[in-house]
Amino acid sequence: MQISSKVQIVSEKIIRTLSGLLASRSVATPLRVCSIGCGTGELDRVWLSKLQDQFPDFTVEYVGVDIDDTVCKAAEDNVGSLDFVTSKIYCQDIQEGLVDEVVKFDFFLSISSFYFIKTPDKVLDMCRKLTSPEGKTMSIYDNVHCKILLWVISPCNIDAHGVVKMHVT
Ligand SMILES: C[S@@+](CC[C@H](N)C(=O)[O-])C[C@H]1O[C@@H](n2cnc3c(N)ncnc32)[C@H](O)[C@@H]1O
Repeated sequence: MQISSKVQIVSEKIIRTLSGLLASRSVATPLRVCSIGCGTGELDRVWLSKLQDQFPDFTVEYVGVDIDDTVCKAAEDNVGSLDFVTSKIYCQDIQEGLVDEVVKFDFFLSISSFYFIKTPDKVLDMCRKLTSPEGKTMSIYDNVHCKILLWVISPCNIDAHGVVKMHVT
């Protein structure tokens, strides 16, 4: 499959963001990922596969959330067919929260989806509550001037009112 330069860059940024965490933990503990607005999961499939190339012993517990039921089935197929991944897709509005998820996540990822969410502070607050102490929230989106903007948001930088201090890397 031909991988576009955007997907390539996004994958490299994600792997760089997660590599410290993976290097310092036991492979017995799966990496817990939540993809907000996962779409068809095609992009997630690419970066997850690249992550596995570099960290072959790790397994991933993937939760995808998307409001559009036409893409959820494709996400189940695209991500669920990876043999190192166990997946669950919620076809719902992320603003309703993840009521069935009690185990914390290592990584919340939003690729081109925060743009559509009416209450981003509420969603970020949910991320903060459901992120493991060493976990990260990352939002990636396009910008007409810089081709890709990447925000890595440390959950501890989100205050009680949902105001976020962001690091651009
Ligand atoms: C531009 S697409 C990006 C899809 C995927 N992340 C990717 O990069 O290929 C944005 C996705 O966000 C989803 N979305 C928009 N608002 C949402 C919401 N409130 N809750 C969950 N998903 C939402 C849309 O249905 C769409 O699939």
